[in-house]
Amino acid sequence: MKIVKTIDEVRRQVKEWKSQGLSVGLVPTMGYLHEGHASLIDASHRDNDRTVVSDFVNPMQFGPTEDLESYPRDIERDAALVEEHGGDIIFNPEPSEMYHEGFSSFVDMDVLTKELCGLSRPVHFRGVCTVVSKLFNIVQPDKAYFGKKDAQQLAVIKHMVDDLNMDIEIIGCPIVREEDGLAKSSRNTYLNDKERKAALVLSQAINICMDMVRNGETECSKITDAMKEHINAEPLAKIDYVKIVDLATMQQIPVIDRPALCAIAVYIGSTRLIDNFFSEDI
Ligand code: PAJ
Repeated sequence: MKIVKTIDEVRRQVKEWKSQGLSVGLVPTMGYLHEGHASLIDASHRDNDRTVVSDFVNPMQFGPTEDLESYPRDIERDAALVEEHGGDIIFNPEPSEMYHEGFSSFVDMDVLTKELCGLSRPVHFRGVCTVVSKLFNIVQPDKAYFGKKDAQQLAVIKHMVDDLNMDIEIIGCPIVREEDGLAKSSRNTYLNDKERKAALVLSQAINICMDMVRNGETECSKITDAMKEHINAEPLAKIDYVKIVDLATMQQIPVIDRPALCAIAVYIGSTRLIDNFFSEDI
């Protein structure tokens, strides 16, 4: 397993693999890896001959008041995890390697990105689409792996690949959770003990939704009201959004009568956490 810092070196390695007829999987990450990331690396290792894990805290997808500076980083620990899970390369470029002086081309999307997280994070998906396009161009993988934890991101990437005719198969992988239900996230490290307990309202609210849908409830406002009531009972929690949307458009729907996504974003103290549930996973 190698830590690679330059685009040229990744390209050289991937070219060599491809000349040997080997398939290549890509797992894009921002590092500080946990079992959620590991599950994507496992999936890529299973499906492909070689796996590249990118480990890059992408400045372009952070808003001016967001946590770019404090975002946790530990490349040595990440390298050990990637090796353990069968990854072949960690691509860990400096920001200047990805964004040279005068960088001025962007990948933006008009639909899907204006709802949910796009409302409270207006520059986020432009940054994600741009960096993921660059990673796709650099690595030219056969398959790329994304978590359902970031459901809107997964939908946006699938849409981008389709719109721009990128010849890459996008694989969505299930959410990995802590034993008590909290979805694993690099941002969970920001939580103090009290906040860590309070953060359980997210997965509990998702469970409320799942139970209601399983019991045949289809009226979205009834479901989201029950979820909001549960979250609002926790003093440390502040709702950003609790919504049920059409999975294809990310637009809110009144009734679950098509593949839907229930997505929530909640501040626990100053940490913004997300969770979700796909109706088709019932
Ligand atoms: P990051 O937050 O590091 O996540 C990298 C990948 O891991 C994403 O596809 C995310 O959905 C997945 N992931 C995170 N937590 C997970 C969990 N608990 N279960 C399953 N998968 C999980 O998402 C990003 O980085 C960036 O936006 C990126 C795509 C790398 C572009 O910069």
